[in-house]
Amino acid sequence: MADYTIRPAIPSDGAFLADMVVEAANWRAGATRPKPTVFADPVSRGYIAGWQRPADTGFVALDGDAEPIGAAWYRLFAADTPAHGFVAAGVPELIIGVQPLWRAQGVGRTLMRSLTDAARAAGYARITLSVEHGNFAHALYRSEGFAVVGTRGGRDTMVRVLG
Ligand SMILES: CC(C)(COP(=O)(O)OP(=O)(O)OC[C@H]1O[C@@H](n2cnc3c(N)ncnc32)[C@H](O)[C@@H]1OP(=O)(O)O)[C@@H](O)C(=O)NCCC(=O)NCCS
Repeated sequence: MADYTIRPAIPSDGAFLADMVVEAANWRAGATRPKPTVFADPVSRGYIAGWQRPADTGFVALDGDAEPIGAAWYRLFAADTPAHGFVAAGVPELIIGVQPLWRAQGVGRTLMRSLTDAARAAGYARITLSVEHGNFAHALYRSEGFAVVGTRGGRDTMVRVLG
């Protein structure tokens, strides 16, 4: 059993969350897009810009030395703000990343569950995300109750009804 803990994300987690956006952008084996290239994309910038806004909610996983090893968070986007998984105003979009050494040990699933529980508790009816075709994370999202609601530009938008 991997030794990690989960805590709510705080304003000073912004730099680590930015690292997780870079991990998410480099999910493909062998991908090495550096941080400046990733954040030249306004969509990538939008996932962390101004963290932590009032409606921003997230969780950070920590190793035994209290160092961050993964994070999942959501934020709200407006219809005119670029975000890959936008479905409607008022539906938060989930972003997730786990450091390579810690993948496939249950950290991502644990973070997702904490986040979807928090979204439900905050009163949201749905939560959305975007995943590129071929990413194994698709299987994780399906198994956590997300379903594909649209496809564009090699990406699926997946939504979970929180009910
Ligand atoms: C996607 C990611 C967040 C998942 O977190 P994780 O901690 O690795 O995932 P978990 O260990 O909780 O695994 C959950 C499920 O993902 C799938 N999975 C995990 N690792 C996998 C692998 N190497 N190959 C295939 N499927 C895998 C499985 O369905 C697994 O469920 P199971 O353990 O019941 O079989 C993480 O791997 C990651 O950061 N990847 C790179 C960035 C990325 O792709 N981000 C998402 C962009 S949309």
